Parts: sequence; structure tokens; C-alpha cells
Amino acid sequence: MLLLRHCRSLTPFSPLNIQRRLVTPVVASCAVRLCSSRSEDQRFYYQQLHSPYWRYGLAGLLAGTGAVLAYGLHHHKAERVDTSVLSEEKTSSFPTISQEEVTKHRSLEDGVWVTFKGGVYDITEFVAMHPGGDKILLAAGGALEPFWALYAVHNQDHVLEILSEYKVGELSVEDLRKQQAVKSSDPYSTDPERHPVLHINSLKPFNAEPPPEILTDSYITPSAIFFKRNHLPVPQVDPASFQLHVEGLPGGVLTLSLQDLKTRFPKHTVTATLQCAGNRRSEMNKVKLVKGLNWGIAAISNATWGGAKLRDVLLAAGYNPDVAQWAHHVQFEGLDKDVTGTTYGASIPLKKAVSEDGDVLLAYEMNGEDLPADHGFPLRVVVPGTVGARNVKWLGKIIVSAEESSSHWQQNDYKGFSPGTDWDTVDFKSAPAIQELPIQSAITTPADGSTIDRSQETVTVKGYAWSGGGREVVRVDVSLDGGKSWQVAQLQSSEKGLPPGPSPPTGQAWAWKLWEIEAPLPPETQEVEIICKAVDNSYNMQPDSVPPIWNLRGVLSNAWHRVKVKIREDEE
Ligand code: MTE
Repeated sequence: MLLLRHCRSLTPFSPLNIQRRLVTPVVASCAVRLCSSRSEDQRFYYQQLHSPYWRYGLAGLLAGTGAVLAYGLHHHKAERVDTSVLSEEKTSSFPTISQEEVTKHRSLEDGVWVTFKGGVYDITEFVAMHPGGDKILLAAGGALEPFWALYAVHNQDHVLEILSEYKVGELSVEDLRKQQAVKSSDPYSTDPERHPVLHINSLKPFNAEPPPEILTDSYITPSAIFFKRNHLPVPQVDPASFQLHVEGLPGGVLTLSLQDLKTRFPKHTVTATLQCAGNRRSEMNKVKLVKGLNWGIAAISNATWGGAKLRDVLLAAGYNPDVAQWAHHVQFEGLDKDVTGTTYGASIPLKKAVSEDGDVLLAYEMNGEDLPADHGFPLRVVVPGTVGARNVKWLGKIIVSAEESSSHWQQNDYKGFSPGTDWDTVDFKSAPAIQELPIQSAITTPADGSTIDRSQETVTVKGYAWSGGGREVVRVDVSLDGGKSWQVAQLQSSEKGLPPGPSPPTGQAWAWKLWEIEAPLPPETQEVEIICKAVDNSYNMQPDSVPPIWNLRGVLSNAWHRVKVKIREDEE
């Protein structure tokens, strides 16, 4: 309600007093519109603003709800006119606006501006009016194209027509050029383009997570916003000359091209969640500083992976049960190298690698497309149920061995220690390398520190839950009073939404469950602490607080997740 009130007080023009113009139309109906007085134009503008249909269309463009977009466009199409005029708009005399100016407009107070194909648009009123305005703000001050690329799959012209009503200027040529700036010659210069919505924890190497509020918008995380965890520059791999070497088996070295992997072995698809060992490290940092990237709650994502089974490839390379007498590990080497030429590496137990039910993939596809560069193009290992670190990307070599990988990341990192262990006393040899991860859950909506109107009466709480080792999440408990009382959330275990489908086979629950609950706001309180905790089918539960699980590397952070939300009392 307050948001609406705020909206009404906004002027129809931008803070810089740049007038919004309508598209130059070529069809009669639009010509009539243009010949009308400004107040009529404005009336038309406001009629459209208050029409639910087009608002949903633009919401889809900006906030990414594909279904809503389709719905909006379906209705919109019937009502609106020819859109072929859009290209002519380029010749009109909108003022030139710099990127610097656009960047200043990232809030309702300062105005919300975005750029699209060289145009500058002031979408302040739209954001203020739309219930999903907080998500739309993610695009504020920057280019809309990446959001379009991520979400809007239908009928661009019609949404563009809507957007054109908000045009306030042209982006300066200089800034347009900068958008395609020539890259420097540092080792990261060939890293791929990334989606601007990602929260960057480190640029070089690139490490980033999606904003929590969009993480659970879809059961399958779109690849562009899937969290990215790189230790080194992304290697440039030519798929035509790519070779995978499989070593250590009685058959000698087996060398396979990408084509071999695609044609000689049956293709399997597995939907599996990847989680970084450092997910939620920031909560450990609040207890006492730890070493590592300050990940929030979104160093976790869910994708459908396609590729050959590692088991099938090992069998082709000569694996037989006798090998298990002496070999216990399967090592992986990436093609990404540090300045000394050392590659990223990790290993998993042989038992997991050759298990029929282990579902370990040599994946060349992610979400139905070639693996993106950041996620290991052209080939990566996907080890369902196992910590992200062992899911080696840009895979070049597989070695069956009596030993674990000697890699730094297997031996001296990604291990858990007692809260009492510090950097003076730590002995990395004393702890096993993390493989299966513990039970985990977190709240993605509402955001910590956000405000809810009392008039809403209820709050919708959403989040994710997942457990390692193929253990299935069977329950998520949610509390709105700091843990005194609990309610059970509804689980979603497929793209189809609530309620969940059938359980996966025991021990093969590789994918997360999304969950949701609409809970009444507790009376007479101005702040609620919302908590979630999950339970898996071994009845493993999350610990209630961080201090007892604190460790110097900030890994395995899986305490009850807590967000504090303010309740705003109605002013009337
Ligand atoms: N593989 C290679 N070759 N290089 C890496 O830096 N990072 C690992 C793993 N595989 C890494 C790698 C870590 S720590 C994680 S959490 C996952 O990749 C992240 O996978 P993603 O970037 O596809 O989300």
C-alpha cells in the first residue's frame, strides 16, 4: 500500500525533466493518438500503465516470469497495434544520455532507468506499480539485454513497444562503444561475459552467485545465473581438437574426442544440485573471521546435466572388478592452469565412480545446451550428491589410482575442522577431504532486513533444501517466532511446482527441493525472526547455530537459516 501511495506522488517525468515520447506510429490508430494533445497522450499512457495486461508483459521482460510474460503478451497482442515502427524510432530526436547518468538512476527515489539497444528508458512508475518491483530493480541503471536474454523468450516486438513508451533518450555513442570495449591482455581477458545480475565475490578469478530472491524462481536454475566458482582463468578449449585421456586401467591409456564421448556411449541426463563447500560462509564470518570468499546463501544451484556415464567410460578403458583390489580413487584434472602450469584437480572414491546408481556423468550438456564456458565447456564431471569442488570442469584427464588426487584443493583445502582449530594448529592431513555434503536449507524470500505491511496478514516464505549423498529431503520446518513454534512447509521436487512428485529411488535424490509456506504474521510484534531447517531421509537435521560448527575455512556452513523481517503497521 505504501508503495502505491509513493507511486501516486511520483511525477510522470524523470527527475531531469526529460519528456517521455511515444513511438512514431505508421498506422492510423497511432496517428490519431499522436495528433491528440499531450494530456490525451498522458491519459493513454496512464491507461496503459494501469492495464494489468501490459504490466505483466513488461514484468516478464524484467523480472523473468516466463509464464506471466506469455500471459501478458497473449492479451496484449490483441489490443495493440503494429510494431514495425520501432526501428524508425532511432531517427527521432531524443536527447543523448551518458551511461554515468543512467547509472545514477537505480532506485524509486532517484528514478529507475535502464538501457536497451542504445535507448534509455525511465521505468520508475512501472517499478513502483508492479508487485515484483524489487526484482525489476536488479536491472536498474544498466542494460536490459542480459535480462531479456535470460528470461524473455516470446515475441520481443510487443514488449519492446510497451517499453518504448518509457523512452527518455539515446545512450551516448561513446558509452555504446564501451559496452563492446576491447579487452586487455590479462589471463582473464578471454573469460566469458557474465550476467550482470550475479553478485560478484571475486572478479579474477570469477566467483559469483545469483541474488537469493531469484534463485528459487525456477526449479532448474538458468545456466546464466547458476553460481560460478572458478579458481583460475577459464581455459579456451577447441571442441574439435579436444581430447580426454583416461589412465591407470589395464587397457592402457584411452583417448577420446568429444565426438567419441557423444557417439560411443549412451547419453544420460541427471538433474543434480551443485553446492560449493563455502556456501553460507558469510554467516561463519559473522561469528569469527574465516579465510575464503564471502559467499551468501546462493553458492548452490540446480541443473539438468547430459553426458556419458563415467562408469561406461571406465569400463571401455578396461575397468574390471579386480581393479578395485588396488585402486580406490578416481582423479580428475582440469585444463585450467595457474602461472606455474599446475592444473585444478580433485578425486572421488572409485566406488562412487563405478557405481551404477552413483550417476557420475562426464557432462557435455547443461540444461539441454552445450556446457557454458564458465561451467566447464566442453566437458566436466558431475558427481551428484558430492561437494562442488570434486565436479571438475574443463576435464582433460581421468586417472584411476590407489591414491587420492595430490591437488592442493584435495589435500589442503575443502576439509572441515573443529571450531577449536586455528591456523597455528591446523594439520590438513588429519581430516578427510569433503565428499558428500550435509543437510542444508535456506530462506530466499523474504530477504533479510526487508519490511512487510501488517495489512498483508500473512507472509510467503520460500527457500531451498538439499542433502548430500543422494539423501532425500523429507521435511522443512519453518518458524516465525525465532524457533518457539514450527510449521511444515510444502515441498516442490520438480519443475511442475507444488505438490512434490514421486520420490526418486533411495539414495539417488540428487536434486534440491524448493519449498514454500504462507504463514500468518504473529500479532503485536514489529519484527519477526523467520527460521528454516530441513530433515533428510536419514533424519539428519541442521544444527541450530553457527558457533559449534565454525571452522577456519568457513566450509560446511549449514546452521538453521534465519532472516529478520520488520512489520510495518498500517498508517490508517
Ligand atoms: N574445476 C576446475 N577445473 N576449476 C575450478 O576452479 N572449481 C570447483 C569445481 N570444479 C573448479 C572446478 C568448485 S570449488 C566448485 S564449487 C564447482 O566447480 C563450481 O561449479 P560451477 O562453477 O559450475 O558452479
